[in-house]
Amino acid sequence: MLADLPLAFSLTDPNFKSVLYIVSFALFIYGLSGLTGPKTAVQGNRIAAVGMVIAVVTTLLVDPFNNTVLIVLGLAVGFGVGVPAARQVKMTAMPQMVALFNGVGGGAVALIAWAEFRDTGGFDGVATYIAIFSVFSAIVGSVSFWGSNVAFAKLQELIDGKPYTLGRLQLPAQILTLGIAIASGIAITAEPQSEIVIVALLVSAAVFGLLLVLPIGGADMPVVISLLNAFTGLAAAAAGMSLDNQALIVAGMIVGASGTILTQQMAIAMNRTITSVIAGGFGGEVAAAAGAPGAEGGTVRSTSASDAAIQMAYARQVVVVPGYGMAVAQAQHAVREMAKILEAKGVEVKYAIHPVAGRMPGHMNVLLAEADVPYDQLKEMDDINGEFARTDVSLVIGANDVTNPDARNKADSPIYGMPILNVDESQSIIVLKRSMSSGYAGIDNPLFFNPKTSMLFGDAKSSVQSVTEELKEL
Ligand code: TAP
Repeated sequence: MLADLPLAFSLTDPNFKSVLYIVSFALFIYGLSGLTGPKTAVQGNRIAAVGMVIAVVTTLLVDPFNNTVLIVLGLAVGFGVGVPAARQVKMTAMPQMVALFNGVGGGAVALIAWAEFRDTGGFDGVATYIAIFSVFSAIVGSVSFWGSNVAFAKLQELIDGKPYTLGRLQLPAQILTLGIAIASGIAITAEPQSEIVIVALLVSAAVFGLLLVLPIGGADMPVVISLLNAFTGLAAAAAGMSLDNQALIVAGMIVGASGTILTQQMAIAMNRTITSVIAGGFGGEVAAAAGAPGAEGGTVRSTSASDAAIQMAYARQVVVVPGYGMAVAQAQHAVREMAKILEAKGVEVKYAIHPVAGRMPGHMNVLLAEADVPYDQLKEMDDINGEFARTDVSLVIGANDVTNPDARNKADSPIYGMPILNVDESQSIIVLKRSMSSGYAGIDNPLFFNPKTSMLFGDAKSSVQSVTEELKEL
């Protein structure tokens, strides 16, 4: 009956496939726009996930395939590994998880190119442009897979975060491996080649990926992950071109474009160029420079929870400055509890959010949103910087580099030029951290030696809870 209707679609109708793909693109883009604000982010994520389900189901239903068991097995493994991993991952381990998932995407794209090569007898009789896209996706996918695995291993501390280089041989080795990959790719696209050539391409691209990321220090790893994310997106889009799959083209281009923009924004917020990040070296001395009390030549004044509570209880305005340490301590809920008590005492509480506080974009926003901190109390760096001078107490919770005045004042500092939160302009500053250790950049922070600063040493969550108990007594 249905087939008699002139407008009825069948699953194999290419127009039906295109319509479903367009629905999924619309959902990706609409979902992505939701990610621009904390209120709409969760919903945006769900909408984009629905778009992805539609794209996957459409591809499976429409394109003929004959390996049902393998496909179901693949879906089951992906579901079984991906869902529990995403649910259980701690917020602090999110960057390495993104690295791992991104790497898997790059690896999958490289394997698709290899499978296409085998299926077509080395692209025999295949249009040159399709062979070029396949070769591109094989090279970039392989670089992304191996580079992302190194990034994962560094962030997960499976290997040391310090830069590893071959010294003077580093650049020649990079040029050689990339050269072999490109030369193999040109040979493949010029005429059909034996399989050994694509294996040489994949292996040399893999070694290039390792040589690209191993020299980069731990501090730059989130930027590198974002860059590799953009690579994977481009490789997936190229695979989409060679497979004639619009869903892969659009999804790949979205990932490529958003990864590129994010990389650029992170580099700007850290006052680095992407080239200087790739050149490597920064952040490798974290452990060595850590814990050098008094290196600034000043005196450090420590305080107690009860003194900190008194100082804040009689303030007009307290600005909370969260950083990576708040995430490590998972202190966000305790911070919210403390803020409620301060507000009940008539103190105005605001939160100063630095764009690269923590270890991933939006890290502080996510944590504070999880603790139900009202969005209007979260102030972006440019909005809050003018307010520090009339802030009675700045409460720095596990933040370090993003408050370091050397970024403004010391031309030879590795972070010179990085925009910071002008915490040192406040009337008084209380810093919550465990020791005098440095932050991710591995450098001292003169803020801790400022006569207006007092240090409350200890785990951020316990310190905030102790201050809260003291506040209740006042
Ligand atoms: P950091 O400068 O890394 O400092 C974090 C501080 O938290 C440390 O000094 C540490 O001191 C303290 N800490 C750690 N665990 C703690 C705990 N349980 N309780 C209390 N304190 C604890 O953090 P930040 O100020 O947020 O700056 C972020 C850094 O990461 C910047 O250098 C930034 O460029 C870099 N980065 C960020 C991103 C993104 S996108 N966010 C990307 C790439 C790089 P103690 O050990 O003494 O406690």
